[in-house]
Amino acid sequence: MERYAHISGWGAYVPEQVVHNDDIAQVLPTSDEWIRERTGISCRRVAADHEHASTLGLRAARRALAVADLDPGRVELILVATSTPDYLVPCTACLIQDGLGARRAGACDILAACSGFVYGVAMGAGLIRAGLLNNALVVGTEVLSRVMDWTDRSTSILFGDGAGAVVLQASEEPGGFLGATLGADGSGADFISIRIGARLPFESSAEPISELLYMNGHEVFRFASRIMVQSTRDAARSAGLEVQDLDLLIPHQANARILQVAAKQLGLPAGKVYSNLDRYGNTSAASIPLAIVDAVDEGLIQPGDRIGMVAFGGGLTWAGCVVEWTYGPADRAWSVWRRSLHASRSGVARARSVLSRLEHRLEALEDRVRRRDLERNGRPARARARDAGE
Ligand code: COA
Repeated sequence: MERYAHISGWGAYVPEQVVHNDDIAQVLPTSDEWIRERTGISCRRVAADHEHASTLGLRAARRALAVADLDPGRVELILVATSTPDYLVPCTACLIQDGLGARRAGACDILAACSGFVYGVAMGAGLIRAGLLNNALVVGTEVLSRVMDWTDRSTSILFGDGAGAVVLQASEEPGGFLGATLGADGSGADFISIRIGARLPFESSAEPISELLYMNGHEVFRFASRIMVQSTRDAARSAGLEVQDLDLLIPHQANARILQVAAKQLGLPAGKVYSNLDRYGNTSAASIPLAIVDAVDEGLIQPGDRIGMVAFGGGLTWAGCVVEWTYGPADRAWSVWRRSLHASRSGVARARSVLSRLEHRLEALEDRVRRRDLERNGRPARARARDAGE
């Protein structure tokens, strides 16, 4: 029996703090008019000090699992796409796994910049279709405000923070994920970068962490306008479709002008190319899942619709996929009783995670006591007790 991977849940979370163009114009030589005209962005969200990629992603993940009515204890894989992970190790996916209490899930991060979320959807769906998994949670989450140079008017106007997530689930019903295209070109690595890693230890880096993001806007613009068109065509082809068969294209929200150029070259009317860029700016790996959630909420995605997703980013990387949408909000309007059951199961899963952390600490303590006892007495306590008994 053929297996399919359907999107059964979706969720998003953005920080509360809104930074408007005028706020930036108060400290930098720019204006609301320039930013809106050149980028289409009106405002963006900025994470508070206590918020991180893991905490934003966790909130989005919880919402997606609630829509799917999937118990965190049954999640099998968590893929987190981010360019601003909390740490290199542990990966942000493990922090989200712990926060959810998804004790049966494998977890890892995807470092493919703004294309990471679509990479994640293709990987999760591919593993489900191959029969290796029954479900996967794919999260895109970013706190780009932390790595940006707020005194650089060419980058600080573009980026924002946020998170989005989808749940993919196996089914024998045809539909869901239909195909994908993934690409990379490392020869363009210098066009956009966040250079931190073992090659450039933070201690020896001359740059403060808030000025790590570098971008050659002009080159990225040229690359993006070309690759959006090519990947949308390739993604549609991989699904056995033409671009015109897509009901809605959800592109990476980078710049309104890039979206306009792509729409024109693809022959798609503006209404078929979704954008919420004005509200959030470019949230990198979070931009597509955030746009999915907004488009569903706005009633622009209906069951049976063929939805294209297409992204490009640093690396350089690009990715596109096509999904036949399965559920509308009405299908996911769970009864109060079912929602309460989901909430209590999620609470139990979270509590189990806390207990598991406590267990690790107790085990470590027990081990330390045992070793100290061995050092002091030369023989393990059990052997001494045996000798005393003889
Ligand atoms: N406000 C006012 N003027 C600005 C400005 C700002 N925020 N940023 C740049 N300028 C100025 C430049 O200094 C330049 O001035 P000059 O002509 O006196 O030298 C002028 O505006 C034009 O600069 P340019 O870089 O050619 O502007 P642009 O139209 O290419 O727009 C970007 C700049 C960054 C908005 C645009 O290149 C872009 O969006 N690129 C793609 C970025 C992207 O998508 N990144 C994410 C990849 S995932």
